[in-house]
Amino acid sequence: MLSCALQVLLKGTEFTTGWIFFIDEEGGHSLEAYHNIPSSLSDDGCCLLKNGGCWCVNRFRSGKLTMASNIIECQRIEKSIAENKGDTGNIEYHATVPLQSGNESFGLLNVAAPGKNHFHEHELALLESVAFQIGSAIKRIVLTKKEQEIALMQERNRLARDLHDSVNQLLFSLTLTARGGTLLSGDEQVKETFSTIQGLAQEALTEMRALIWQLKPHGLENGLSEALNGYGEMLGMDVEVKVDGVVALPSKIEEALWRIGQEAINNAKKHSGEEAIYFQLNTSPNLVTLKIKDGGCGFHYNPVQFIPSMGIKGMQERVNQLEGRFQLKSEPGEGTEIVVKIPY
Ligand SMILES: Nc1ncnc2c1ncn2[C@@H]1O[C@H](COP(=O)(O)OP(=O)(O)OP(=O)(O)O)[C@@H](O)[C@H]1O
Ligand SMILES: [Mg+2]
Repeated sequence: MLSCALQVLLKGTEFTTGWIFFIDEEGGHSLEAYHNIPSSLSDDGCCLLKNGGCWCVNRFRSGKLTMASNIIECQRIEKSIAENKGDTGNIEYHATVPLQSGNESFGLLNVAAPGKNHFHEHELALLESVAFQIGSAIKRIVLTKKEQEIALMQERNRLARDLHDSVNQLLFSLTLTARGGTLLSGDEQVKETFSTIQGLAQEALTEMRALIWQLKPHGLENGLSEALNGYGEMLGMDVEVKVDGVVALPSKIEEALWRIGQEAINNAKKHSGEEAIYFQLNTSPNLVTLKIKDGGCGFHYNPVQFIPSMGIKGMQERVNQLEGRFQLKSEPGEGTEIVVKIPY
């Protein structure tokens, strides 16, 4: 939708090049659409547009960009010249206008044309009205998405509650009944059978509890460290979490690390044969690293080999979605180590 809107705008005006940044609450920008940008900016998957800061984004963040601004020297183009990235399409400056709806701002619409270093009042007025239309459309999309998320969360909550009240309670009764059977029977074989039933029911109960936790929306109210400890405690695992650096992670990343941590604890509980797992979280200004380690039995792991299960695949997918890197190292008898690196 954004890409089309941008193309229509460029077609009907003298601007030839344009790009749209979304800027989130934490000030992080993402490149959402672009059209006809010079090769110096499109090189390496638009890395100069996607990474680093620039005047327009900084002005937006500091709240100084409230209306269409005439010409802003493009720091990204300057960088591309300094780094000899090739053709700049004779673009040095661009006009910039915030995407707004009501009092909310979502990002920036930037447009430029070769050799152009001044935009007329009527051009800026047109830009503002287009930005307003785009901003309103984004607002509608965001609201619909939020509604969908809320509906999904409610549904997951309902499922978690139902599972807890039905299957979970039944399994619990089953463990008690089997225990009663073991105690009451005098026959060794019957005792053994009841004891096996008790063990299996206990296992199913543990898995069910883990599932219920995973269905719950967040559990991150008191931070990642506490959530991981609580989850481990529930599964009877000894979880140690060490944190280095200031942790104020974007919520998307925190949620992903939480889900990855949950699966790592599940796997350690189910497969490692150990009862302890260690987490080390390091944050630097634009990268978060989470190392997870258990000293258990380990397994043969080949990253290019297809695994039919969901756990490890799910962890990888979460990291990929955030453009991070996922690494798993394990060998039989050597324990298992997972390293996740996510830029932000
Ligand atoms: N910490 C670990 N220690 C030992 N083996 C492990 C560990 N983590 C994973 N594995 C091995 O890797 C396999 C794949 O893990 P994965 O999490 O993808 O699947 P799963 O746990 O078997 O099932 P699920 O889809 O429910 O997660 C496991 O079946 C197990 O053999
Ligand atoms: Mg698993």
